Amino acid sequence: MTTMHMADLYDAATYAHSMPHDTFTALRREKPVVWQTEPNGPGYWALMKYEDIVQVSSDNTLFSSERGGTNLEDMDEDAMALIRTILINMDPPKHTKYRKLVATGFTPKMTRQMEPHVREITKRIVDNVIAKGSCDFVTDIAAQLPLAVIAEMIGVPPEDHAKVFDWSNRLIGFDDPEYHTTPEDGRVAAMEMFMYANAMAQDRKANPRDDLVSVLMGAEVDGESMSEADFDGFFILLAVAGNETTRNLISGGMLALIEHPEQRQRLIDDPKLIDTAVEEFLRWVSPLIYFRRTLQQDAVVGGVEMQAGQKVAMYYPSGNRDESIFENGQTFDVGRSPNPHMAFGGGGPHFCLGASLARLEIRCMFEEILTRLPDMQLDGPVQRLQSNFINGIKHMPVKFTPGA
Ligand code: HEM
Repeated sequence: MTTMHMADLYDAATYAHSMPHDTFTALRREKPVVWQTEPNGPGYWALMKYEDIVQVSSDNTLFSSERGGTNLEDMDEDAMALIRTILINMDPPKHTKYRKLVATGFTPKMTRQMEPHVREITKRIVDNVIAKGSCDFVTDIAAQLPLAVIAEMIGVPPEDHAKVFDWSNRLIGFDDPEYHTTPEDGRVAAMEMFMYANAMAQDRKANPRDDLVSVLMGAEVDGESMSEADFDGFFILLAVAGNETTRNLISGGMLALIEHPEQRQRLIDDPKLIDTAVEEFLRWVSPLIYFRRTLQQDAVVGGVEMQAGQKVAMYYPSGNRDESIFENGQTFDVGRSPNPHMAFGGGGPHFCLGASLARLEIRCMFEEILTRLPDMQLDGPVQRLQSNFINGIKHMPVKFTPGA
């Protein structure tokens, strides 16, 4: 790098105060495929440009999710065997088969069926805070929705919702001191979750109901159905993938509206913009910072030669502001169109399974907020999650005119 000292992309502290967009922008210009060292690992290639991320994401033969998982930390073989039971860490032919199986539970029909539930949940969440005139946006609003939706969809009874919430925090929060958790605690949470999911799967196999677990336990691809163990992995994936991401998107999207009052007013004056606004929230916030792949063979990405066995991380927040794709990419524009963002991944076989459900949740939540809490403002400092993986906000005090 000629003009600047490069921030350490691996160090969670780099993300403590904001997304390092200045570093991303400089890297896209000067070194779009950059080698990043790790304190306890061999280092990895970091991809900054949109096209390079698309290339890697589209090719799951050359760039494996199974070999080393989708997070940067290398694990021992026992831990690897466990995480390979999760869809996101599978390669073909296993991935192809399981993706088909679980896709039976994620159809457009399912999303349509969820809409009245999602509306009801968003309304209830706002009902709970509106008279107070202030709240913590993250814990009282944003975090409530995705968990309730996934739990409702899977069929977790209301009295167990808090457990799922706690497990997913412990699974993902070990970078952050406030959660006081360790990778070890994360593994314990995973085991507890596995056991819970297993009991549910067994129950629905015997007594099918009208929920996702029953659909998945009954589905068949090439004459094979899902085992209870397969379901356990999927349950964990849903509780993490569908929960933290959507929560942080909603918090980050709200913060963007508060910081860009003219864009919020535009959306209030013209509610038809909600669909482009949702896509812009996704591009702007990019709740997931990266996913990893491992090279199965030597390859060239962005003109750089890489070797078999090396790791590569796709930095979605950087791809989402790549100036060769997005005009005025550093501008937040609720009417942006086209907007081919990569918040749900760079396309290809692992593209986010829950994208349409997430879009539905985000749209319903902002429609509710913009009509009932239109003057929301910050009421204290925003506290970010310290993580190199999730672009998250832990606490965001807000105030608004109390309503009925
Ligand atoms: C704003 C919200 C969300 C964001 C930003 C997001 C992002 C992503 C990304 C980037 C991937 C690609 C992983 C890869 O390439 O290795 C992914 C995969 C996945 N997402 Fe999402 N997601 C969101 C919401 C959801 C929801 C609500 C669900 C389910 C209820 C969900 C379920 C999944 C699953 C199951 C996969 C794995 C697909 C596979 O490996 O074939 N996501 N998501």
